[in-house]
Order: sequence, then C-alpha cells, then structure tokens
Amino acid sequence: MARKPIIAGNWKMHNNVSESIELTKGIIKGVKDLDKNTLPEIVIAPVFTSLYPVSKELEGCDKVSLSSQNCYFEPKGAFTGEISIDMLKDLNVSYIIIGHSERRQYFKEDDELINKKAIAILEAGLTPIICCGETLEQREMGVTDSHISSQIVKALEGISPENVEKTVIAYEPIWAIGTGKTCDSKEANRVIQQIRKTVAQVAGSAIAEKVRILYGGSVKPATIVEQMAQSDIDGALVGGASLQAESFIEIIKGAIK
Ligand code: PGA
Repeated sequence: MARKPIIAGNWKMHNNVSESIELTKGIIKGVKDLDKNTLPEIVIAPVFTSLYPVSKELEGCDKVSLSSQNCYFEPKGAFTGEISIDMLKDLNVSYIIIGHSERRQYFKEDDELINKKAIAILEAGLTPIICCGETLEQREMGVTDSHISSQIVKALEGISPENVEKTVIAYEPIWAIGTGKTCDSKEANRVIQQIRKTVAQVAGSAIAEKVRILYGGSVKPATIVEQMAQSDIDGALVGGASLQAESFIEIIKGAIK
C-alpha cells in the first residue's frame, strides 16, 4: 500500500495565541474545499501556549492534526518547565516532533533522551516525528550517511517493529534549515533511501517500506512538487513557509496525489 504523505508545519517559537488562531483559521479555510481522500495528512505544530486554543479551533475539522514541538518522557513529577505526553494528549495532540536539530544544538538533547521520548510517545499511542540530519561540516567530511544511520539506530533502540512502523522520520540537513538552501531533491531522496535501509536493519524491510520519511529544510511552494516526485520522500516538515497560510496551502496542494 502506498505511504500516505504528510505535510507538517513546524511553527517553532513564532505566533502568540491570537496569531496562532488566525493562522489556523487560514489553513482550515484553505483546505475546506479540497478532497480529503487525495490530501496529504496535514499537521501543524504551534508553541505549547497555543496548543489549547488551536485544538479548539480545529474542532470539527478532520483534515488537520495537531502536533507539539517537544515533550518530556516522564509521566509527571518534579520536572520544572517540562510538559508530559499525557498533558499533550489531553489537548488532542497526536504528533510530537522530537530530536529537532535546534533542540539538539541549543538545548543539548542527545540520542539517548530522544530515544526515551520516542518510546514514551509510542507507549501513549501518539506518533513521534523523529528528526535527523547532518551539519555542513559532516557533509563535507563525507560522514552524512553514517551519522544519520547512527542517529536513527539510537532513536529506535528497544522499539518493537510494530511501533517502528508507526513512527515518522524527518530528514533535515542542518545546513538547509532556515537558510533558503534546499537540499537537491535527488540527494535528499538518496539519503532518505539510506534511512529506509537503516530502518530495515532495525525492524525488517516490510516495516521500513511502510515508515513515512519526510524531507525538511527550506521547503517552499516552488520546491515541493519536485520533492514529492521522488520515490522515497513521503512529505515535508516545513518551517518558515508554514507561517503563512497561503504558502503552507500551496505546499499542501503540491503534495496532493
Ligand atoms: P525551514 O525549517 O523550512 O524554515 O528550513 C524546517 C525545520 O526546521 O523543520
């Protein structure tokens, strides 16, 4: 069976409550008349403080799902400043982005922590969007494939094949994030095929064929059609271009099959 594409908007640290509501309204309006059967799965990831109002806004809209940009793996307790998966589930969050390069770089998140989060998210019945990607330096050193394979093996450690099947992976070359420099589509497809091979080593090739693997890094309306035409790119994790309803809708339309 064909893998259902996903277009996910990562709003990062943008949009207060009223701006989030306005953007959500624009997205709902933009997808209202589009046929759900041909649409990709659409996911939006606002900041924590906007999750509740956005989830209220999404009531009655079955075309857009809610994601958070992070979580903590412990169910509750003395973890000042953290948010548990159950607290997110309570707000109708169904996806959680983990291991984004900005979390790894600025908040020192490592593969072990990302693995703990992935396990806890799957146990709670939610879907992790696990990010991986190389720096420009790693690419120039020729270690892109080994680095990404190691990130994926560590992120999926101890996860059953049935749960691996439910995960979503996002390949985001760090040098392409927020820089306007999109990774060449064929090269992105090649790395994603390598990721699929790594998933096959962990969980078997039948499972690997079902896992959705997205590309992220300066995705724009002008790049999405070529990206979606690649054999192994199953959608996009979009930052900057997801902050305006018009460009996000154009990207969604570019992913209609
Ligand atoms: P960008 O961000 O589309 O602004 O490059 C992508 C991401 O970091 O998820």
